[in-house]
Amino acid sequence: MEREGSTPRAEGLTRRALLAGIGAAGGAGAMYAAMGVLGLAPTEGTAAVGATGGTRAPAPYVPPQPSDFSLRGGRAATVLVLGAGVAGLASAYELGKAGYHCTVIEARDRVGGRSMTLRGGDSVTELPARAGAGEPGPAAAGAVQRVTFGDGTYFNSGPARIAQWMVTLDYCRELGVPLEVFVNNNASAYVFTAGMKAPVRARTARADAYGYISELLAKATDEGALDARLDDGDRERLLDFLSSFGEIGASYEYSGGDRRGYRVDPGVGPGTALGPPPALSDVLGEGLGRMLTMDAGYDQAMPMFQPVGGMDSIVRALAREVGAANIRTGTRVTGIMNRPGGVEVSVEGGAPLTADYCVAALPPHLLARIPGNLGAGVQAALGTPVPLSAGKLGLEYGRRWWEIEDRVYGGATETDLDLGHIWYPSYGFHTDRGLIVGYYNTGADAETYAALPHGDRLRRALAQGGMVHGRKYGANLLASASVAWTRQPHIEGAWVRWPSMNGFSLLQRPAGRVYFAGDWLTHLIAWQAGAFESARKVVTELHHRVLKEG
Ligand code: ALA
Repeated sequence: MEREGSTPRAEGLTRRALLAGIGAAGGAGAMYAAMGVLGLAPTEGTAAVGATGGTRAPAPYVPPQPSDFSLRGGRAATVLVLGAGVAGLASAYELGKAGYHCTVIEARDRVGGRSMTLRGGDSVTELPARAGAGEPGPAAAGAVQRVTFGDGTYFNSGPARIAQWMVTLDYCRELGVPLEVFVNNNASAYVFTAGMKAPVRARTARADAYGYISELLAKATDEGALDARLDDGDRERLLDFLSSFGEIGASYEYSGGDRRGYRVDPGVGPGTALGPPPALSDVLGEGLGRMLTMDAGYDQAMPMFQPVGGMDSIVRALAREVGAANIRTGTRVTGIMNRPGGVEVSVEGGAPLTADYCVAALPPHLLARIPGNLGAGVQAALGTPVPLSAGKLGLEYGRRWWEIEDRVYGGATETDLDLGHIWYPSYGFHTDRGLIVGYYNTGADAETYAALPHGDRLRRALAQGGMVHGRKYGANLLASASVAWTRQPHIEGAWVRWPSMNGFSLLQRPAGRVYFAGDWLTHLIAWQAGAFESARKVVTELHHRVLKEG
């Protein structure tokens, strides 16, 4: 397993970092060119500009509908959809709108793929740890965790947040999935760098970073160091901006202020302010800018959203629409063949299945292993994306100490420890129990934890989290569960990275009657929105082909 390139840990989840592996946008360009041939893509200048300022490419999505056949002839085809993750379920759901008969084949015993929400009564089975992954550890082969969370507690072990501009929200609206705010940034959460005696609140980190940056820039401006770039008016406006941006005084010195926070909050009394900031070099040395940039990405900005009751509400709603009778779980695909006039999919322990078309919505590294006659180029392309590691640990506590003692209601603490991020729940405020995401890490850090059995992951995470939160992190713990995505059967990776663009555009096209769908075929890797966008594209192309070919 490769690391996420040289991406710094704190940036491990930004869209920019995810895209770094995808490379140039040539793949999408080629895709849109291909869609243009089919009359599906807007010509230059016609793409609608969304209310957010983003451009919703390639064109407004029009779901297939039964009336398309009455207008243009033909009949809805039969389709085998491989994989009941978001891309597979969305494909079957959208095709079903026009009367296509879809059968979804899923190797796991549950739908949703990586959209896995764990609750009491669930179990998590893992593949054996791979030799050489992370630290050598006594990871047990095929270990099973029995989840014992209490009623109402859930753990989104995969996707957990949705940005406003993502198509995922449109599906929530359409499917009647209620939403609530996911607190992705909280001024009261912490930043912690190894070696610090105590964590720093995000608001304090921000005040000091803005303050010192403003001081440096204001002094440089005032001394004329930026005269080549600024005229008199610019200089005045910049100084004016910096004075409020950094809360610096007339002498341009940053000396702190109440933005840093209080030791005793104001009330009847004036409160006790935290006091003056540490020296500039201490602030720089602590690397506290992490907290300022974690939600700077286009895909991480507040407000973000989550379905009420768990992320799997979305895939459950999709599965409900597709119909349980059309979804075969526990069925592993062992072969994918184009046959004259149709496709044949062989499955473990059963007769081969046939249909007019196939939508292969499995992870590419799994598809690459399935024998078939898709061609050497397609096979090589499927083998190109590299699966990456991510892991999460859910910790259920019998006391919401982060609300009661720390006054932290949702959000994330950013650390440079190998646990990565700690998330506080955005649901169940003030109830008796609560679930913290005790680690959310990627790359080599995730592999370190993946190599361990659950009990050791828990011990390690509690020891590390204790550096941030002290003894309470280990107290009142009721239950826990962890997921190492590289060890999840029939998934084997959190998401993928394209080390080169080779194959990206090839797989945008069908191999005979087999179409490919998934977040891995978009520029929204590691987002459900990518899976939805890819499914819509494939459904549109497949439907147009059926309309054309009859
Ligand atoms: N989409 C993933 C996240 O938000 C990577 O953490």
